[in-house]
Amino acid sequence: MINIPKGTKDVLPKDSYKWQYVEKIARDTANSFAVNEIRTPTFEHTEVFLRGVGETTDIVNKEMYTFMDKGDRSITLKPEGTAGVARSFVENGLYAGTLPAKLFYISPCFRYERPQAGRLREFHQFGVEVLGSTLPNSDAETIILAKTFLEKLGVKNVTLYINSIGCPECRKKYAEALKTYMSDNYDKLCDLCKDRLVKNPMRVLDCKNPECNKLTANAPSILDYICEDCKNHFESVQKLLKIAGVEFKINPNIVRGLDYYTKTVFEFVSENIGVQSTVCGGGRYDKLIAEFGGPDTPGIGFAVGIERLILMLDNLGVEIPNENKVKIYLAPMGEKESEKAFELVCELRKNGVVAETDHVGRGIKAQFKYADKIGAEFVGVIGSFELEKGVVKLKNMKDGQEMEVVFSSLVDAVKNA
Ligand code: HAM
Repeated sequence: MINIPKGTKDVLPKDSYKWQYVEKIARDTANSFAVNEIRTPTFEHTEVFLRGVGETTDIVNKEMYTFMDKGDRSITLKPEGTAGVARSFVENGLYAGTLPAKLFYISPCFRYERPQAGRLREFHQFGVEVLGSTLPNSDAETIILAKTFLEKLGVKNVTLYINSIGCPECRKKYAEALKTYMSDNYDKLCDLCKDRLVKNPMRVLDCKNPECNKLTANAPSILDYICEDCKNHFESVQKLLKIAGVEFKINPNIVRGLDYYTKTVFEFVSENIGVQSTVCGGGRYDKLIAEFGGPDTPGIGFAVGIERLILMLDNLGVEIPNENKVKIYLAPMGEKESEKAFELVCELRKNGVVAETDHVGRGIKAQFKYADKIGAEFVGVIGSFELEKGVVKLKNMKDGQEMEVVFSSLVDAVKNA
């Protein structure tokens, strides 16, 4: 037997309806905010993520699936969606079209991480990117979109944390303050953080090492260092969220694990998914498009991890509707009856009814068992008596009620039941 690679998962038929439902709600929610789909490749030139995600991040340093292709090009499986969207936005000249460009994607992502509940090496994101607006309305609207999506799915017990990490100007001052603060404890930092303190000090706050966390617990807050413009922007975002009735907590320790962020950053954190509790993360990235050679274009977005989300819904006991359920199973009791059942199933399906019949020659008892297993709402028995009379004996599997329906009325009867 060949096993599945570590950190990947099969979505089996018993669970795939959950994915379809979550993806449908994602699309519907995005559409209701006038956000259109974009699809970018699963792999990009490695350069896209070096520039986009940033060379001092864990993703780029430790987690990328990078390989040389047969043409000797360095290729990377996308570890996240934003950098590819930014590349595409510039390459396809979307900046010259109607702005803001409001885009969403549902896409596999790949990170070489230590797998655990809710943390995989191949996972999937529903992401939204809004490009071309500097206004705080855009931040608030994007956060509200994420919240609406989670709410529509019945997610409870999530807290929205927001922060501002300022612009490169205010961050310079903050970086100095952080360096000064950490200088006494420099030797106690992990090797990676020592390097981070030189290259990108704020990344120290994002370290997963508990010893580094202790050292940074009382570090200066970025919010004391942001400039007037960033401060006003952050205050406006908060004001708009309050107007929309969205509850949030300010958490100055949220710096996010990617380098492209400026100003607003946010995370939705759940109590229900164990160790990996951040179900959605996002923020503003006003310098990213220019980084890809496009005109200065601000952006803001988020991504939700679909595996984490489904794990959370399961833990919460949220019932996800199964829209693929079999409406009727036709149980023939002989060869001739089987032909009739076959004909009726074709007719039902043509009319949009999810219908099934016997494919392995089961006896009537076994057919009822099978119909029950596949969750059929109705079973229609066709024995020699029914065939002669031109009817189906229809049984409602929930309440056990039975009635006879003539063949020609079966579609309507089942559709209206
Ligand atoms: P991120 O915080 O790295 O942000 O990932 C977003 C979400 O993807 C996380 O909150 C989590 O639910 C899910 N996720 C991340 N890594 C894994 C993993 N190894 N296994 C399972 N789920 C995972 C981004 O990726 C940004 N591109 C979000 C963004 C869009 N910012 C602006 N626009």
